[in-house]
Amino acid sequence: MCSYCGCDAERVIAELMDEHEQISWLAGRLLLAYQRGDRQLADALGEEIAGRFDHHATKEERGLFSQLLEAALGEDAVAELESDHRDLRPGLRGAVDGTWIGPGGLIDRLLRHAEREDSDVFPFALQLLPNQAWAEIQAVHHRFDGAPSRPAGARQTTIG
Ligand SMILES: [Fe+2]
Ligand SMILES: [Fe+2]
Repeated sequence: MCSYCGCDAERVIAELMDEHEQISWLAGRLLLAYQRGDRQLADALGEEIAGRFDHHATKEERGLFSQLLEAALGEDAVAELESDHRDLRPGLRGAVDGTWIGPGGLIDRLLRHAEREDSDVFPFALQLLPNQAWAEIQAVHHRFDGAPSRPAGARQTTIG
């Protein structure tokens, strides 16, 4: 594994951002299904979002966030983001209803959370974390996903 040139950092961040994109694409589909009154599809998409978010958030906590805390970097931001994870997880496990929709709803909070990571915490980490930390994070991601760089796509879903 490369721990010297910074390529681990790019891989890790690309993977996390790609997962954000997948979740936000699913959220768009969920909103359309909800607006059309297709509650069965909306619930199925909600369940898929909940599963993906749980997996993604756990990876962030054990990987990137853990390394930031170990380096004493961005502790306040990490505490807020982990608090978002704790708040969002149980809500996402429920059926899709009005609590998911509109300003301040679950979808809105989920997308804001991802946006904060993409535009604030990831660039901060890229600048400040040492190469060895990225190698550790990459190893955590491998343990979770079972492959060095699982090709991910926004449109990979089992839901029609
Ligand atoms: Fe997160
Ligand atoms: Fe995230």
